[in-house]
Amino acid sequence: MSDNARENPVEALTPLEAAAEWEALAREITDHDKAYHQKDSPVVSDAEYDALRRRFDAIEDAFPDLVSPDSPSRKVGAKPAAGFSKVTHAKPMLSLGNAFEDEDVIEFVARVRRFLGLGEDEPVEIVCEPKIDGLSVSLRYEKGKFVLGATRGDGTTGEDVTENLKTLVEIPMILKDAPGVLEVRGEVYMTRRDFEALNRAQEKAEAKPFANPRNAAAGSLRQKDKAITASRPLSIFVYSLGDASEPLAETHWDFLTRLRGWGFPTNPLAELKECVEDCLQFYRGTVEKRQGLDYEIDGMVYKVNRLDWQERLGAVSRAPRWAIAHKFPAEKAETVLREITIQVGRTGTLTPVANLEPVTVGGVRVSRATLHNEDEIARKDVREGDTVIIQRAGDVIPQVVSAVLDKRKKGAKAYVFPDVCPECGSLAVREEGEVARRCSGGLVCPAQRVERLKHFVSRNAFDIEGLGAKHIETFSEEGRIKTPADIFKLKREDLADRDGWGEQSADNLIESLSQRSTISLDRFIYALGIRQVGQATARLLAKQYGSLKGWRAQMDAAQDRESDAYQELTNIDGIGPLVAEDLLGFCAEDHNREVLDDLENLLTVKDFVAPDPASSPVAGKTVVFTGTLESLSRAEAKARAESLGAKVAGSVSKKTDYVVVGLDAGSKAKKAKELGLNCLNEEEWLNLIG
Ligand code: IVH
Repeated sequence: MSDNARENPVEALTPLEAAAEWEALAREITDHDKAYHQKDSPVVSDAEYDALRRRFDAIEDAFPDLVSPDSPSRKVGAKPAAGFSKVTHAKPMLSLGNAFEDEDVIEFVARVRRFLGLGEDEPVEIVCEPKIDGLSVSLRYEKGKFVLGATRGDGTTGEDVTENLKTLVEIPMILKDAPGVLEVRGEVYMTRRDFEALNRAQEKAEAKPFANPRNAAAGSLRQKDKAITASRPLSIFVYSLGDASEPLAETHWDFLTRLRGWGFPTNPLAELKECVEDCLQFYRGTVEKRQGLDYEIDGMVYKVNRLDWQERLGAVSRAPRWAIAHKFPAEKAETVLREITIQVGRTGTLTPVANLEPVTVGGVRVSRATLHNEDEIARKDVREGDTVIIQRAGDVIPQVVSAVLDKRKKGAKAYVFPDVCPECGSLAVREEGEVARRCSGGLVCPAQRVERLKHFVSRNAFDIEGLGAKHIETFSEEGRIKTPADIFKLKREDLADRDGWGEQSADNLIESLSQRSTISLDRFIYALGIRQVGQATARLLAKQYGSLKGWRAQMDAAQDRESDAYQELTNIDGIGPLVAEDLLGFCAEDHNREVLDDLENLLTVKDFVAPDPASSPVAGKTVVFTGTLESLSRAEAKARAESLGAKVAGSVSKKTDYVVVGLDAGSKAKKAKELGLNCLNEEEWLNLIG
């Protein structure tokens, strides 16, 4: 789906176009939800996410037939991540509808009035509370005692983080005079100051810094080891009610007062307003002072004050009718784009970066902004020397929104995206259907080298004991290891005199290098780290071509896409044209050929020997995979099972021996349970097949 297509007004879409766009958006939104809620690692800004959601909602409004029970509009967040036990919320944890313009807020109040049948002059009191950019949690108290704490998860089921929440000093453990059951909801967050201190400590410990306070809060709370949570400075504001065994107040405002009485922190900036104009004025004032706050807020939440009205208003799909979030506008500034440079990521993606005349946006000094990709530059027609508008939405990397055409200098030339990698000079290729251009230098590209080398020595590849990721980093920095072959050229005397390397560890490494210089063909191919060539694909290739020489010769021959060799390659079940392109692209690159030549001289790569399926515990068994597997693709899982003599079926029946249940598994897992079949999770399966 191109971005241009998304600019068509929804009304102009044919039902077919709408269905196609709905599907693409649903997938995209689900991926973003997972990145945000399960991995604490968003890949787009809040503003971009909101834009996707608005478009999605507009399509569903215009084409209601498209709405399905598993549409993202019916879900809140994402399913809980594996690892914590699951908690079903006594009352669902809802999300909030969004307002972006004043008119949206005016319409919200008008809707409330219409719904309740209120007269024009009947006041509707609204509580305005800053929207905290954190992680929502539910705190359950029984007989005044804190008994259960959970994350929101998908709104219905969250993760049990009770023990971790107990480490937050701001959460009272005992409530005096509380109802038998009380569930309080709020937002766990990290102050900006605490976030900065934590990141300094992370950097010192050579740990990955967090992208923003929200991720830091989420990552800190969802720790298996509660001692780590305890060591992190987490704060909380509470703001709503879940389950309660008796009424607590008549208004939300009084409810907040009761919460404070029990010792919960509530947001001190909250105010009670009598009309929508006052709400909007308060919003504008908060936008102004937002940067001065020590915690991040991303909007204002308006809530109907009367709880009996809240009750009557209820909720529709994932959001209550009695509340709405008025999002803050992205902060923008104008500056000059000095130069566009290209950054090469660890996986070889070329990302254009705008180098700017430094400018302050929302209190932060910005001198670089992302231009995303080739298409984005072309679409926005941003040129070097242009005056540009940049924006900081939430806390993600600033972006270039547009060029100010009136200020464009004469002779400014359209930007030409490079087709070679600026780091290593290898071809940078863009595959069909992909937005990213990628360097094909792989093993020799300095930007990718370290990650590739780490992969090369990793457990499923060369498995070189005594040479860990840290060593690779140090040796690469020093220029001692540049290519995989350099690893096998390490000498005892290179090591023994180094800090942290005793005689013994140097001897051990030399010994393991000598042991590992004989390797099976499939491991060898896997170790090369070719895109899309995982263990199973490497095994398929090894099986097909038998020897390193045979494989290389056939890859050379297959460079001619009309050849029999190309046919043979793409005929391998499990290797499609896209994988073939990555593979052949790698083998055609001169730098990679040199690496292969060097390795061939230094190592003994054993010809493929088919495993004896009879010795495998899954030989002759029927296996069904369902849900998403985390450590390998479905194709890899299937290929591996088959190579061990198992039969992989697409549907569950009484004859199924094993059902491997991944994340988000649906009806097949359910049916397997009903039939009493042997269900394994991914880890159990991997253990079984060794
Ligand atoms: S009220 C029924 N108040 O924003 C909904 N939510 O985008 C109750 N949030 O799920 C939520 N600050 O996690 C409410 N002052 C506040 C909030 C707030 C942050 C979060 C909450 C909610 C999300 C919706």
